[in-house]
Amino acid sequence: MSSPFSIEGLRPGARILGIESSCDETAAAVIEVVTREAQPRGVVLADVVASQIAEHAPYGGVVPEIASRAHLRAVREVVEAALDAGGGWSSVDAIAVTSGPGLVGALLVGLQTAKAMAWARGLPMVGVNHLEGHLFAPFLDRAAAVGGAPRFPFVALLASGGHTALYRVDSFETVRELGATRDDAAGEAFDKVAKLLGLGYPGGPRVDRLAASGDPNAVPLPTPMRQRDSLEFSFSGLKTAVSVHVQRHGAPAEGAGLEDLCASVQRAIVESLVRKLMAAVKREGVADAVISGGVAANRGLRAMAAAACEGAGVALHIPPAQSCTDNAAMIAFAGAMRLARGQRDGAGLEPRASWPLGRVT
Ligand code: KG4
Ligand code: ZN
Repeated sequence: MSSPFSIEGLRPGARILGIESSCDETAAAVIEVVTREAQPRGVVLADVVASQIAEHAPYGGVVPEIASRAHLRAVREVVEAALDAGGGWSSVDAIAVTSGPGLVGALLVGLQTAKAMAWARGLPMVGVNHLEGHLFAPFLDRAAAVGGAPRFPFVALLASGGHTALYRVDSFETVRELGATRDDAAGEAFDKVAKLLGLGYPGGPRVDRLAASGDPNAVPLPTPMRQRDSLEFSFSGLKTAVSVHVQRHGAPAEGAGLEDLCASVQRAIVESLVRKLMAAVKREGVADAVISGGVAANRGLRAMAAAACEGAGVALHIPPAQSCTDNAAMIAFAGAMRLARGQRDGAGLEPRASWPLGRVT
């Protein structure tokens, strides 16, 4: 089989500076693109992330205006730190920047920074779809990655704070959405339940930690979209079920039911994600599955997906936590694949609040 990767438009060993500012992380990274077993890989030379979580925490969610200002304050230092660790300007061949989907004011900060630097340095620049970054994150060479890089075609579950969808991926260029959430994203469901239980923001990691010592069958909760054979998700009913439970029984305290409730909520979310992922893998007849996005850090999801894939003879690929949550190394790699296809963007590149990936409308 011929390699799906053409290095045309990108010299072997090219170094890409990536910039990400679509939501609440200001990130910059430098990667080197290498070819291994006829597939491209991104060797991460620098991976810098400045999180705004503390600034948004008092509001229980991301405040767009605060995000834009925080990106402005952080972006210069973050890019300089990435360049210092990544070999400096002289080694950079091109710049890749997230141009959507995301908060427009936040995206603008990364975009304008990338445009200014590309112009000043005379470097090619390319705009990247943030979701594409998440999908191809398993191609980054990272210790602690589960399963290494996938083989095309594969099915990918992208589960983050803003997005939850399944994709069939035939190449770096050919992606088709198989199903998405009808309401909340999986990460949003974790965050909303955590808020109800007074666990702070973002709630996903807290629920994950508490769930580890709880009984996942202690509180009966509906598994979202269990009966339907569509590949869509729905998590808003789960939040309502937890809200009703808390109204009836009160919010449980740590050591007195909180762990059990967190474990039960996590089981419901994770079971829905894994059930649909496996249905998609079966329907599409692929041998490889990818899980990416912030929720892929969840230990319950990792364990259940590993067991399901092993049982079905499917190779599972999950990037390590720092490549699952928002970062610029994944943007640099997705940008490299666009550059390799000859894509270049100029000063007219605009931010896109909405940019569905592979959706057939
Ligand atoms: O991919 P990401 O960093 O940002 C978006 O593009 O949305 O994902 C952040 C989301 C948050 O909703 C957070 O609660 C969730 O990922 N998350 C987790 C865990 N770590 C992060 N959810 C469940 N378990 C975790 N360990
Ligand atoms: Zn993301």
